Amino acid sequence: MSDIAAQRLVPIDVDGLCVTAHNRLLLAELNCRIGAEGITVLMGPNGAGKSLFLRCLHGLIPPQSGRIEFAGCQLDQSIIKRQSFIFQAPTVLRRTVYENLAFVARLRPEISADETDRLLTEMRLNHLTKQPARLLSGGEKQRLAMARALLTAPNLLLMDETTANLDPASVQIIEASLRTAAANGLKIIIVTHNIGQARRLAHDVLFLNAGQLTEHTPAELFFTNPRSAAASAYMRGELTTTG
Ligand SMILES: Nc1ncnc2c1ncn2[C@@H]1O[C@H](COP(=O)(O)OP(=O)(O)OP(=O)(O)O)[C@@H](O)[C@H]1O
Ligand SMILES: [Mg+2]
Repeated sequence: MSDIAAQRLVPIDVDGLCVTAHNRLLLAELNCRIGAEGITVLMGPNGAGKSLFLRCLHGLIPPQSGRIEFAGCQLDQSIIKRQSFIFQAPTVLRRTVYENLAFVARLRPEISADETDRLLTEMRLNHLTKQPARLLSGGEKQRLAMARALLTAPNLLLMDETTANLDPASVQIIEASLRTAAANGLKIIIVTHNIGQARRLAHDVLFLNAGQLTEHTPAELFFTNPRSAAASAYMRGELTTTG
């Protein structure tokens, strides 16, 4: 096995994953295998459990029962370190845009200065390098968060509604970057309510409703013929929140 293959965190096997809080079953025995190929899109109405599931994959929420294995290994700190998570509300350090990236680069000596500059260009941030990051607009912050996530050279990128409030140009920049990263072998799992974005990016779709995984379907089938009634209703705009 090559070094790169040995570092992969896929497939991800989820087996009987349950999360409860205040006597409510929030994730109800999820079972799935997320493969190596392409971008996996997680969809479902508000409150379905998408963010919870993504957080479980990143070790932020301990499940009551069930297991998650990454390429056959139990989730531990070494696996979490090889993941990047981009939240809906971007977090930036109280430093300049450039320093936000240089800070990450200093932690990883193998990252070249060229890579920092390349990502600043890819995310169209090179005219803002000296600006304090906290003064960036929401879309610019999100692009900085994306550059920082890619700079860490993760084996798995998890994104929770990262482009929800971005303008079409910023969405395009981020989607183009995701496509390139996926084509170069990075496994990406994103949550989105944007059906157009899901169509553009998805290799496969996981659909959650009321804490249940109602289907896991290749994208070409999901968008023409979703298998579950819940996903069908959601795509028609007839399924809103789950209670
Ligand atoms: N820490 C928690 N304690 C108790 N309940 C929680 C906790 N976190 C989430 N929930 C509940 O779990 C359910 C799923 O929440 P989650 O944030 O995963 O939804 P979501 O699918 O991401 O929805 P949205 O599309 O609105 O982001 C919601 O009903 C929420 O209120
Ligand atoms: Mg959410």
